[in-house]
Amino acid sequence: MNAPEKLKYDRATQDVGNIVHLEHYNCCIDDQRLAVLFYVVGLGATRDPYIFPGMENIWLNFGRTQVHMPSRAEPPKAERLRGTAGFVVPSLEDLAKRLEHAGKEMKRVIPERKTRFEWKEKDGLIEATDPWGTRVRCHAPSPEYGPIDLGLAYVDFDVPPGTVEGIARFYNEVMEAPATASKGRAVVRIGRHQKLIFTETKAKQPEYDGHHIQIYIADFSKPYRCRVALPVDRRSEGRPQAVPDRARDAQHEAPAVQPTARQPQPRHHQHDLRCGKRRVPWDILRRPASGTSTIGRTPICARP
Ligand SMILES: [Fe+2]
Repeated sequence: MNAPEKLKYDRATQDVGNIVHLEHYNCCIDDQRLAVLFYVVGLGATRDPYIFPGMENIWLNFGRTQVHMPSRAEPPKAERLRGTAGFVVPSLEDLAKRLEHAGKEMKRVIPERKTRFEWKEKDGLIEATDPWGTRVRCHAPSPEYGPIDLGLAYVDFDVPPGTVEGIARFYNEVMEAPATASKGRAVVRIGRHQKLIFTETKAKQPEYDGHHIQIYIADFSKPYRCRVALPVDRRSEGRPQAVPDRARDAQHEAPAVQPTARQPQPRHHQHDLRCGKRRVPWDILRRPASGTSTIGRTPICARP
């Protein structure tokens, strides 16, 4: 009997870097009705039924990922992501119908409100703008995005010209996440299928307004040891009852992205970091944020 054919595996293809999951982006908003109409009625999120079920905030579940939209600021304020959020949705055809309906509902429910909502089909995907100006790009499920039918696949930030090499260096050396830069674009790998992308543009960018993304990392202390990522204290703003970020030890600010050093630098985005005692929970890629339930979420499908 012949010996079984020896299979060769390249196990390195399954390696992941220090950032293991991109869980949410957070933008303050001034009217929760618009968030429901765009993200739930339009994009197909479900409202998290247990965390922030009231009017001060809304957590929008896309599979194992989320969008957070607090609306408690006084006076009201709205933020927008300086870039594009990439989602996977089960059906682009159904999405188009829902966005059409959501736009009509915005006019019916809040006729006096002018929003930045728009959407169009383009090159086999759907691009839309949320009511406050955050751009989203929706893709059909694909092996490129992993075994999901619904979820946040990437955030693609707009950055000034001449910055992507430095950004890739920051993620490689400080965050220890595999990153490459080429032709005005830096790509940072998160887990096996998610990405942070930084795309250079000459378009004038608005001032940084405080929005953030949240990631899970394995080695939590390294960015602090590098003294590059600075702790910030934003969560307690306007919420004296909340545990300050510095005390939670859970948030830091990504370095500025301007190429020149030794000058006052504008902030770009923040990381809201989650990690359990420097260990990554075994089910980190499959479960929602700590304290949340799987009820109201779309399970990961079994597609290989
Ligand atoms: Fe957050």
